[in-house]
Amino acid sequence: MPRRPKLSRSLVAFAGALAGAVLLSGCADNRQNVFDPSGTYADKISTLTNLAGAMAIAVGLLVGIAILVIIFRFRRGKGDPDRVPTQVHGNTPAEIGWTIAPAVLLVVLAVPTVSVLFELNEDNPDAMVIEVEGQQWWWRYMYDVDGDGETDIVTANEIVFPADTDIELRITSNDVIHSFWVPELNGKRDAVPGLVSTWKLQAHEPGMYWGHCAEFCGLAHAVMRLRAVALSPEDWDTWVARNLEPAVEPADEDTPERRGYTTFGQFCATCHVIRGVYETALERDPPLQAGVAPDLTHLTSRTSFAGSLLNLYLPDGSLNVGQLREWVLDAPGQVPMDPDNLQGMPSFAGALSAQQVDDIVAYLATLDGDKPILPEGVPITGD
Ligand code: CUA
Repeated sequence: MPRRPKLSRSLVAFAGALAGAVLLSGCADNRQNVFDPSGTYADKISTLTNLAGAMAIAVGLLVGIAILVIIFRFRRGKGDPDRVPTQVHGNTPAEIGWTIAPAVLLVVLAVPTVSVLFELNEDNPDAMVIEVEGQQWWWRYMYDVDGDGETDIVTANEIVFPADTDIELRITSNDVIHSFWVPELNGKRDAVPGLVSTWKLQAHEPGMYWGHCAEFCGLAHAVMRLRAVALSPEDWDTWVARNLEPAVEPADEDTPERRGYTTFGQFCATCHVIRGVYETALERDPPLQAGVAPDLTHLTSRTSFAGSLLNLYLPDGSLNVGQLREWVLDAPGQVPMDPDNLQGMPSFAGALSAQQVDDIVAYLATLDGDKPILPEGVPITGD
């Protein structure tokens, strides 16, 4: 017998790698877990998933048992090796049975599925509206908190809202198709350019829920993250009051903050808005393909930057100055982008001196200068 040691060894290696991958993925700190629903809509989806899963497991077990029984019951016995079991063909009760049983299962699954589909897409005129815009490769959120039809608050990547409140998202895109997804709060909804799709969000409890763009949207899709922050009613009021405040220019002359403010005006304000001081990006004509860059008016009220890829704070509560510097100087060196095609942020390596970068970061730290308002138990890293 010729032996095939190579094949068996590679099979063992493959099985080992597979087992390792399964084990390791089980160990991951899973912040986007559809099996851990934390809001009304995620609950509905989870109930359906559990029902479909239970039915699939039951059918799988029955089929597996039937196969085993058939294998053993009809295996070639010790007696006549040529014995053939009685053949079944055209058995009407069996034919009807295995046609009706799956049909019944499908109906049992379809009824709640269709009703949840309608519930998730129902209009809710009492819901609080937040506008959501996807672009390469970050999310913009716009709030009209006084209901006068004008946007009062603009923020990026972290969507903040009151817990235990129905939120209606109006989702669109400024470039290609993205998909807004916070697995613990609801399913996915595509952000399609030229189309406004409504979607719902609700969290039972204050908390930090992570999400991710769920539609391939180019170079940095894999790192186009988001965080959903549900606050208590008091915290929500504080967040709104704080985010309504415009920025003011640093008063003191000849400080790093003041120098950073000036340099920001020369290099960053063509794309980034800081309400109250730098609003030129709002009038850009023609607008950037990606709908300009994140509004930085209340940068320090967030826990993350760079499309929620990087934490804005270190575990000790200090600003993540190191990664902020790297980002300001050379964002395309951190995340794949194509700034020449107006997709993502340009590199300022060679254009900005180390001193200028430090000054800009010192200025960013003053926007608005307070720590994020976070639900109880959520660390400042947002993890
Ligand atoms: Cu945006 Cu993928």
